[in-house]
Amino acid sequence: MVNYKDLGLVNTREMFAKAIKGGYAIPAFNFNNMEQLQAIVKAAAETKSPVILQVSKGARNYANGTLLRYLAEGAVAYAKELGWEKPQIVLHLDHGDSFETCKSCIDSGFSSVMIDGSALPYEENIALTKKVVDYAHQFDVTVEAELGVLAGVEDEVAAEESHYTKPEEVIDFSTRTGCDSLAISIGTSHGAYKFKPEQCTRDPKTGRLVPPPLAFDVLDAVMEKLPGFPIVLHGSSSVPQEYVDMINKYGGKLPDAVGIPEEQLRKAAKSAVCKINIDSDSRLAFTAAVRKVLAEKPAEFDPRKYCGPARDLMEELYKHKIINVLGSDGKAQ
Ligand code: G3H
Ligand code: 13P
Ligand code: ZN
Repeated sequence: MVNYKDLGLVNTREMFAKAIKGGYAIPAFNFNNMEQLQAIVKAAAETKSPVILQVSKGARNYANGTLLRYLAEGAVAYAKELGWEKPQIVLHLDHGDSFETCKSCIDSGFSSVMIDGSALPYEENIALTKKVVDYAHQFDVTVEAELGVLAGVEDEVAAEESHYTKPEEVIDFSTRTGCDSLAISIGTSHGAYKFKPEQCTRDPKTGRLVPPPLAFDVLDAVMEKLPGFPIVLHGSSSVPQEYVDMINKYGGKLPDAVGIPEEQLRKAAKSAVCKINIDSDSRLAFTAAVRKVLAEKPAEFDPRKYCGPARDLMEELYKHKIINVLGSDGKAQ
């Protein structure tokens, strides 16, 4: 049994309370490899932003859970080396699908877990979430739960269409489960194709898709039922068109990729939404940079020569999110 406190990590409780009061949100960035982790830690350390490092089931399968856990332990030491005296770093399981997965993460040093029972019938979601909460709280590990279903397909996480969270359920759900934060569905979705072209309009000047707005009325109703309760938004990548263009220019094929406009995320960050999940944007930045180098320098075969620029571009992206979208810079001095 490894306790996260011995690794210098923190849970989300205090972080979320401060974010709600301060009208900003904490970035939750997924990572699968060293370059992503380096870029996240550098961006957080340089901006003094609290940060959540997210590990999905897919990431654990890809990189090995133990190695990822040690990378996160290294993240705290690296952050200090970069001059961030008191790093506020959370190691979080993203979309935990069973009690056993959550338990194994808690036992190996995670400070926060998500149990995603959103696809289950309501009572089963409650029972599973409560079981995880009861275990996690013994070790002061915080638990994110989910109510409502996001649309979109991303590896293990698939749902044909979204079902907005029902505000009338949130009091009963949070009280009976004891969860520390709640992921809700208000129209965001996973991946780089968040909306079908038929759901969007087109900007006549650029020809780009303009997505429909998020359901802020659902968010408002949830906040009215649960004043001050930490709310989480999944599927919150913006799918920056400059990365999509770069990928397409250098041999890729991402037609009509579209994300959540930044101004909507800025608005959400000022509310009780205190955790915003971003994964796809980092994948796009990585891929765009790698494609560019390989297209321009076909003789290059040293991975550092293309993973290095990919890391730089991701760092720029993370800083941009922290400073210009979520407003979490300077909140972990
Ligand atoms: O919400 C899903 C995350 O983006 C993780 O995706 O399962 O492909 O690692 P993944
Ligand atoms: P994106 O696919 O929008 O980056 O969402 C990531 C996410 O919600 C991880 O849980
Ligand atoms: Zn998610």
